[in-house]
Amino acid sequence: MTTIQGQLQEKLTNAITKLGIDLPADFRAAVAISADLRFGDYQSNVAMMLKKHLGKNPREIATELVESLELGDLATADIAGPGFINFRVTKEAWAEKVNALLGDARYGVPSVVSPQNIVVDFSAPNVAKPMHVGHIRSTIIGDSLSRISSFLGHNVTTDNHIGDWGTQFGMITYGWKNLLDEAALAADPLQELLRIYRAVNKLCKEDEAVKEQCKLELVKLQGGDAENADIWQKCVEVSKLGLNAIYDRLDVSFDYWHGESYYNDQLAPLVDSLEKEGHARESNGALCVFSGEAVDPKQDPFKEKRDDAWSDLPMIVRKADGAFNYATTDIATVDFRLKEWNADKIWYVVDARQALHFRQLFDISARRGCDAELEHVPFGTILGKDGTPLKTRDGDLPQLGDVLNDAVAQSRTVIDEKSDHLSSEEKEELAETIGIGSVKFTELSHNRNSDYVFDLEKMVALQGDTAPYLQYSRVRCLSIFRKLDEEIDFAKVSAQITEDGEISLTRMLARYGEILPNVLDDLRPNILANYLLELARSFHSFFEACPVLQSEGETKLTRLALCELTSRILKHGLGLLGIKTPDRM
Ligand code: ARG
Repeated sequence: MTTIQGQLQEKLTNAITKLGIDLPADFRAAVAISADLRFGDYQSNVAMMLKKHLGKNPREIATELVESLELGDLATADIAGPGFINFRVTKEAWAEKVNALLGDARYGVPSVVSPQNIVVDFSAPNVAKPMHVGHIRSTIIGDSLSRISSFLGHNVTTDNHIGDWGTQFGMITYGWKNLLDEAALAADPLQELLRIYRAVNKLCKEDEAVKEQCKLELVKLQGGDAENADIWQKCVEVSKLGLNAIYDRLDVSFDYWHGESYYNDQLAPLVDSLEKEGHARESNGALCVFSGEAVDPKQDPFKEKRDDAWSDLPMIVRKADGAFNYATTDIATVDFRLKEWNADKIWYVVDARQALHFRQLFDISARRGCDAELEHVPFGTILGKDGTPLKTRDGDLPQLGDVLNDAVAQSRTVIDEKSDHLSSEEKEELAETIGIGSVKFTELSHNRNSDYVFDLEKMVALQGDTAPYLQYSRVRCLSIFRKLDEEIDFAKVSAQITEDGEISLTRMLARYGEILPNVLDDLRPNILANYLLELARSFHSFFEACPVLQSEGETKLTRLALCELTSRILKHGLGLLGIKTPDRM
């Protein structure tokens, strides 16, 4: 289904063609959603855009365009200010939109014209350490972007590039051999791995000999020692179990789990070819990628300013001790994704602190002929109420599982207060749905680039910009239908939109198909989150102003249809954010 915005755009383009205006190939007759409804529902500044091209006064151009526009019943157009064309959608067109939405399985959202192969690299925690609160952002944002782009029609591959290789395994292997408590491992493997990791970390700081031992264990593992390989394998397995328990709770899944170790065999030949092709050379014993010297040093990720002069900032791909690293693996990963998955785009949903790594990675990839669009999708930090990064009482980063438990417990207190009519089993399930939904919505309603304060009380509140507010809005829609003693056949409804409250809500419902594609412009799910809040507010105003059950005939059917569509879009939109919607609260 074409959106109203899309229809207007098409009609405007036709009008321009009809006037015999010869347009530059990349010209778009853009129609925007009006910021101020007093001027109509949509607005175009196309006349101003054509001013230079035609050498005419924009108002004159706008007048000619409006005269040749064939809008039919869709909208009326008038001219304002220096030459804006304002469109007001007719009540007939709104009614038709409602009818069409009722029968549309895509909720009015058009599919993209040219689907692309998009790889989304997200979550990617480091194995043998539990996921901490910092992983919330990547996991939730990445999951939502995957769901949205896939619904829009792209071919999406999700890949959990877990950190299952690297220096931490020297320490873990040492700990496994010397400190492991088998019973604790059986009871809670991930906690036991964390315990030994922390203990060894501490020992290493106190005792050089232990540090040396850890290094040896790592060298043995990298050299293919059977015992160490076996320990590594076990660590990865139990870690995956622990991670999966969290992903199940979060309702997040991946097509692939190609962690760092997956690329081990490809690193030596890759590094050889980097050297042969002149992309890398030796420096202080290490093999490094340097600047391509093709851009201004200010834009060059391989340069930094030191003492007022530009110096090299190389990317190490083979350390002096011969080991490969994170960077080497990421270069191999790009190759793999291009070759095996035919990626047109790769999105890396990773902490903003890794920006330099990705700039370097993208630069070297482009120099090696990668024609896919590589994008770092960064995000800021989660803060505690004191405004500093969220920490536990001992100063550690809180574990993700604990954070989720806290959110669920907090939502349980709200439910105990408000939902007396539910059984305790229902309450428990609801607390999980609301608690997890709250964590996700708080994340997704913020601009990912900003830091935000993690305030449990605020995020599970029924009032405010929260998940429960949206979940409750939908429950309110559903409860209207529970009070009805007839089944409505929405296929037969012929809507009549007359009242302001009806128009406003219809406008918001129609907007779903218009705003959802915008999420991908900047990879910002908060555009969808904020739309859903607006939709819910519009629904509540409609509900106050326009009685539903007490109305009659076509009016009643129309209003029920609006409730139905609100409920469908709330459920679908929350679903794209990875948030579940309970039927009762
Ligand atoms: N494991 C890394 C970390 O926790 C994130 C990996 C992101 N993905 C990538 N291809 N580098 O910092």
